[in-house]
Amino acid sequence: MKTVLSGIQPSGKLHLGNYLGATRQHVEMQEKFKCIYLIADLHALTTVRDPEQMRSNTLDLAMDYLALGIDPEKTIFFKQSDVTQHAELTWIFDCITPIGLLERAHAWKDAEAKKIKEMTAGLFNYPVLMAADILVYRPDLVPVGKDQKQHIEIARDIAMKFNEHFGETLPMPQDYIKPEVAVVPGTDGQKMSKSYKNTIDIFAEESVLKKQVMGIVTDSKGINEPKDPATCIPYLLYKHLASSQEAAEMELQLTKGGTGYGDIKKTLLAKILEYFAQAREKRTELIKKPDEIYDILSDGAKKARVIASKTMEEVKRKVGLTAA
Ligand code: ADP
Ligand code: TRP
Repeated sequence: MKTVLSGIQPSGKLHLGNYLGATRQHVEMQEKFKCIYLIADLHALTTVRDPEQMRSNTLDLAMDYLALGIDPEKTIFFKQSDVTQHAELTWIFDCITPIGLLERAHAWKDAEAKKIKEMTAGLFNYPVLMAADILVYRPDLVPVGKDQKQHIEIARDIAMKFNEHFGETLPMPQDYIKPEVAVVPGTDGQKMSKSYKNTIDIFAEESVLKKQVMGIVTDSKGINEPKDPATCIPYLLYKHLASSQEAAEMELQLTKGGTGYGDIKKTLLAKILEYFAQAREKRTELIKKPDEIYDILSDGAKKARVIASKTMEEVKRKVGLTAA
């Protein structure tokens, strides 16, 4: 059976872009593969500095994932920092990773271009930690959105370097990116992202969700004018949640005219609430049982450590840190 590995940072609220681009695949893949999913709290440390925020983001994300259908009976679900092998492997990778490889990373170049306040070593080494997250479990597939593609390429480069130096040890991981949801648009038309504040947060209170959906930008076509589905963001989001018949109906409403964007957005809002109704209900139950959630994560970490420590034993032997 193939192994699937992915991670998500506890750096804010889970949004529709995360769900369509990554989480939905994470949930579906549980039926066919051996899945390992981690909450990347060490990665989130590059941006989250408030310890209480870190704790609440982590618990929130664990609840989001469990509410959306991650099943700890089938899947290994844990917090990255609970498995120290990730940090240990990062250092070994640091010692074979050319600086130039990391200087070419989009996220680093963006940070440089934006002249963000703190250009930390953590931000620079972010892809190395991600390579360790991935390679320590030797997965076949890594389901993510398109923005993470380069990070997986870097993981492959690092695996190749390791194998060249120390002999065949780490298999090449492959990204798994669904083309139709590779880049989900946000409320302003750019890629939906926490950092652009253009998100639709799937577990937000109904009033917040309504504000986000009604705030989606559209062109200024009047009610009676025909509209272009290909550029209509509410429609582009709706079609990923609706049945094909429902999507076809909305497409027709747009192309023939007679329906305003306000009504289209109301239909999208109703669909979001319907689509996530069960998950939202489950989440309100989970909020009452934080201890159970911490137990699930610590149980997951135990299982993850078994796999990660096996890889580390081999890696340490190969590089000469332990006996041959
Ligand atoms: P954000 O950009 O909001 O900080 P993350 O970096 O935490 O999101 O992304 C978590 C997962 O969700 C990653 O696999 C990422 O590729 C995916 N993802 C995030 N935003 C989108 C989007 N707009 N479209 C498709 N996938 C996305
Ligand atoms: N960097 C990823 C993101 O921001 C999160 C992540 C951390 C990840 N470790 C991973 C994704 C390992 C896939 C595999 O979305």
